[in-house]
Amino acid sequence: MLIKIKKPWELSENDVTSVGNYKTRRDFIKAAGIVTAAGMMAPYGALARTLTAAANPYDGRDIKEELTDKRAILGYNNYYEFGMDKSDPSDNAHSLITVPWSITVDGHCEKPGTYGVEDLIDFNALEERIYRMRCVEAWSMVIPWVGVSLSEIIKKLEPTSKAKYVYFETLEDEAQMPALLRGVIKWPYKEGLRMDEAMHPLTLMAVGIYGETLANQNGAPLRLVVPWKYGFKGVKSIVKISFWEDEPNTSWMRLAPHEYGFYANVNPEVSHPRWSQAKERRIGDFSRRPTLKFNGYGEEVASLYAGMDLRKNY
Ligand code: MTE
Repeated sequence: MLIKIKKPWELSENDVTSVGNYKTRRDFIKAAGIVTAAGMMAPYGALARTLTAAANPYDGRDIKEELTDKRAILGYNNYYEFGMDKSDPSDNAHSLITVPWSITVDGHCEKPGTYGVEDLIDFNALEERIYRMRCVEAWSMVIPWVGVSLSEIIKKLEPTSKAKYVYFETLEDEAQMPALLRGVIKWPYKEGLRMDEAMHPLTLMAVGIYGETLANQNGAPLRLVVPWKYGFKGVKSIVKISFWEDEPNTSWMRLAPHEYGFYANVNPEVSHPRWSQAKERRIGDFSRRPTLKFNGYGEEVASLYAGMDLRKNY
């Protein structure tokens, strides 16, 4: 099924399926935000989709983009709290308890406090966004996320003029996360965005994939998606949102500051010290494809970095 749209991120669920299905799925997700999704399937079978030429930045290079198979999205993961191998998160993350869930909000904002997922996410306003995801390890996927713009959440929390950055933390609980004790990273997993990045319309707080509630291994019940940045910016299972004046020191910056920077914008011109970022392997493909600057979203986001040296600010 071909979708006729201008930009992939402008996809609404109406663009990709019938209105009837749309309503069913919305209703499903609405319910799923509060109850467990076990056994319920969203009507996605018919949606083997290819982005149209208009939506496809590879246009002219004869490289088509298709949604990554759901089994790969659910089975090939990075979530080090559950183990280092790509299959560990799907094998182990069943121990994560996502209901009830609370998120602490603090720092420079008018509405600090403790919130439930449904306080922050308007489950009547969920959107589907089909985004490329490029991992810093040089593999990529195309994922149909479900969520809301992060800006909608931030507006509710009313940051003050002192808030220049948004900081996020993942849950840290040894009882639920078997690999925490092995301590690769200094837990909890920490990430952050500059305020203008956080408010950009492409930045998504996801609660679902393929029309279903997020699986634990993908970061249930809510995780960040910043499609023009390497996947590690997409902090999972968020329990804390803070508004800071200073740039946060994130998990990967702490671990290897010469390899991972705060910005982490996808950039084929800036190699990782140990490998090139010029190409990537789309999961499901045999051959590698060229990596696009800002992961193909440059038209929308390049202006955020005008005048910045992207080699220094990697
Ligand atoms: N968030 C937490 N808490 N722990 C992690 O190990 N891995 C990151 C990011 N978010 C990670 C995380 C990395 S390296 C990537 S590529 C993406 O999650 C992978 O998301 P996915 O498994 O849903 O594809």
